[in-house]
Amino acid sequence: MTDTITITDDRTGKTVTVPITGGVFSSAALRELDPSLFMYDPAYLSTASCASSITYLDGDAGILRYRGIPIEQLAENSTFLEVAYLLIKGELPTTQELEKWELDVTHHTMIHENMRKRFVDGFHYDAHPMGMFISAIAALGTFYDDAKDIFDKDSLEKQVVRLVAKVPTIAAMCYRFSQGLPFVSPNNALSYGENFLNMMFKIGDDYKVNPVLAHAMDVLFILHADHEQNCGTTAMRVVSSANSDPYTATAAAAAALYGPLHGGANEAVVRMLTEIGDIKNVPAFVESVKAGEGKLMGFGHRVYKNFDPRATIIKKAAYDVFEVTGKNPLLEIALELEKVALNDEYFIKRKLYPNVDFYSGLIYQALGFPVDMFTVLFAIPRTVGWLTHMQELLNDKEQKISRPRQWYTGHDERPYVPVAKR
Ligand code: COA
Repeated sequence: MTDTITITDDRTGKTVTVPITGGVFSSAALRELDPSLFMYDPAYLSTASCASSITYLDGDAGILRYRGIPIEQLAENSTFLEVAYLLIKGELPTTQELEKWELDVTHHTMIHENMRKRFVDGFHYDAHPMGMFISAIAALGTFYDDAKDIFDKDSLEKQVVRLVAKVPTIAAMCYRFSQGLPFVSPNNALSYGENFLNMMFKIGDDYKVNPVLAHAMDVLFILHADHEQNCGTTAMRVVSSANSDPYTATAAAAAALYGPLHGGANEAVVRMLTEIGDIKNVPAFVESVKAGEGKLMGFGHRVYKNFDPRATIIKKAAYDVFEVTGKNPLLEIALELEKVALNDEYFIKRKLYPNVDFYSGLIYQALGFPVDMFTVLFAIPRTVGWLTHMQELLNDKEQKISRPRQWYTGHDERPYVPVAKR
């Protein structure tokens, strides 16, 4: 038996019955009742904007799976590039497929010299790396004639490889510029995570990437690779629906990620912990949050209402990193804050738990990344998710250019009044 829903328009008595599939029914049913009827759903709280087979997320049960595989298993056993392949192609690669994929990505890590010498060098010395990153991604597209051939499968796949390969290079370049350090070229002999850390931190010939830290970087990349229809991914889909090229759409998605309620949260967490300054100030800070004077950054999630599975994995990764780097002094404040908040009625009632950003910032800081780089670190792996969603969207025959409707609440028609008479 198929589940159905019946909707009655009480104004006319008209009724429509439509199937419910996978907990979803088509809102087109409303248009059958009345073509001028729309649902009002600010922030898409109860709207599925697409059908997707990429990432499964059950916020109440704390489940996150990429292409059906639990995030815990991927974080434990896989590598970021293998996960990238899984997301983009839909299946785990064979040994040969993985080797080819790794080779392809490794051999597209270079960027055009003009990007660095003319484009990045044009920024003000203290430009925020995320602002630079967003602009550099958009600019990168102008170097490829074929960037706009999005309906040519081979060409789109080539842009995907280029973007996945080049985002770490661009991110490191933005960082080195902001520090006044010389650019370090990509090293094809290193893994994705190692190469990124090398481009970031190499000074002199003796620098060697610590394998524990490279592994932690890889795990962080895996955890951030996709998260279904969040703000940045929705931006990616909306811009891609206008058939923009993947570089422009990725820049738009990264722009959404820059916001402090989205990818900027881990930066905000570290700033918040620094401001709290001492474990003894935690109760007063929590009281100020409850009084509405600010948010407890790194807590709460639109979808996860019990726990964020990524937060559990990241907490463990944090301890692995601290074994090598020594404890981040903010950790104690974070642990106390977590303890107080998880036992406080305000947070319990609203189902507010630590999210992925609560601990990721502490790890990034221990790895040596300045706070300004945190959102860039999120954008590198999420580029994989964004591009996967773009590809899915372009292959989805039900999709069209995004164009939501509005509920107009402004004035009725009224005459223009000349300035002298206002
Ligand atoms: N600290 C204190 N109160 C919070 C809170 C936080 N971090 N997050 C939500 N709340 C409160 C809201 O004020 C609201 O309270 P009210 O019912 O008394 O008005 C209630 O919890 C519901 O929050 P709401 O804003 O409706 O949830 P949302 O699903 O729209 O927001 C976030 C989700 C993530 C944007 C929100 O929890 C937040 O801003 N968190 C901090 C930023 C962050 O860590 N972002 C990273 C996400 S991975």
